[in-house]
Amino acid sequence: MPSIKVAILGFGTVGEGVFRILQEKREEIKKSTGFTVDVVSILVKDKAKERIPIRGAQITDNIHEILSNPEIDVVFEAIVGEEPAYTYLSDAIEKGCHIITANKKMFAKHGPALLKHAEFRDVQVGFEATTAGGIPIIRTVTNLLAGDRVKRIQGILNGTSNFILTKMRDEGFSFEQALIDAQQNGYAEADPTDDVSGADAFRKLMILSSLSFGQQPDWEDVPVVGIDHLESVDLKDTVKDNLRYRHVADIWKDERGKLQATVGPVLIGANHPLFSIDGVDNAVIVETEYLGPLTLVGPGAGMYPTGSAMIADLLHVIRQHEAVMVPN
Ligand code: NAP
Ligand code: HSE
Repeated sequence: MPSIKVAILGFGTVGEGVFRILQEKREEIKKSTGFTVDVVSILVKDKAKERIPIRGAQITDNIHEILSNPEIDVVFEAIVGEEPAYTYLSDAIEKGCHIITANKKMFAKHGPALLKHAEFRDVQVGFEATTAGGIPIIRTVTNLLAGDRVKRIQGILNGTSNFILTKMRDEGFSFEQALIDAQQNGYAEADPTDDVSGADAFRKLMILSSLSFGQQPDWEDVPVVGIDHLESVDLKDTVKDNLRYRHVADIWKDERGKLQATVGPVLIGANHPLFSIDGVDNAVIVETEYLGPLTLVGPGAGMYPTGSAMIADLLHVIRQHEAVMVPN
């Protein structure tokens, strides 16, 4: 049975999710693709940290041990921040590896360069997990663009913010209590500032912008507001009017063809498709020329939803590049 060798950079919530799914679904993947997938290396920062049992893979804190291994076909990346992630992935592409990332902070800025580099080296880039967690929004928009045109994208793109707003409104949690709950569930970033300030949703919107419109607006032109100033009492007050606060990221082309975008809390009524999206769920409304508005809903964060999006990318890579995935 031919084998695909993979490395996982980062073994926190997301990296562990990828590893678990690859173990749990090993036989199904083998059956559906004809390949076994073997995790050969895992990169971490602190080798001494206690982890789940990992058999058959080398744990290292040295990226060169991974990038110098000519057997590795695919590099999953689930570490934090722009660097060293961008450099590691550029180097992996240069070595001819396919890459699959969940790192939206890095990808919002460096995604276009990575995609260009990958095209030049004839390898694939999977970035489904960067945006809207387990919702297959990247694949959906990519497919739609083959024969249609995106006019507007509007959505709840941060699971932590939506989870906090729901807990504060329905269960009377304080902002701080709800944030701790989101952290314990693995939804929030290690430093949750970007979740609650709107920066995380903004970056996901920029990834969608590059994909849908082939460009991003000037980042400085986009007003970005978080949920960190909202109090439980503000949320309770809206209930009697049957309104709800949602943290909404929105991008569209104006009549002059210029990209306009906003990110922030919006009060919406019961008829709006985002009204009923609660908890850690995200939702994305894609409006196209031929389709009108299409709404996708699903879990926006967490170990298995994010891991699942990365495995979907892996299956796509295998199907696209079966010829070059033949074993080393
Ligand atoms: P996490 O739990 O904090 O895990 C981060 C992992 O990366 C840890 O294993 C850490 O090593 C490792 N790491 C960090 N910096 C490193 C470096 N310089 N070199 C080597 N290893 C390094 O984070 P996470 O929640 O899994 O998120 C990972 C990435 O996915 C982030 O970019 C995040 O924004 C994105 N993401 C997260 C979610 C989610 O639901 N959590 C969803 C979608 C996307 P140690 O274990 O040794 O500390
Ligand atoms: N911290 C992010 C969120 C993880 O809550 O949406 C998913 O990108």
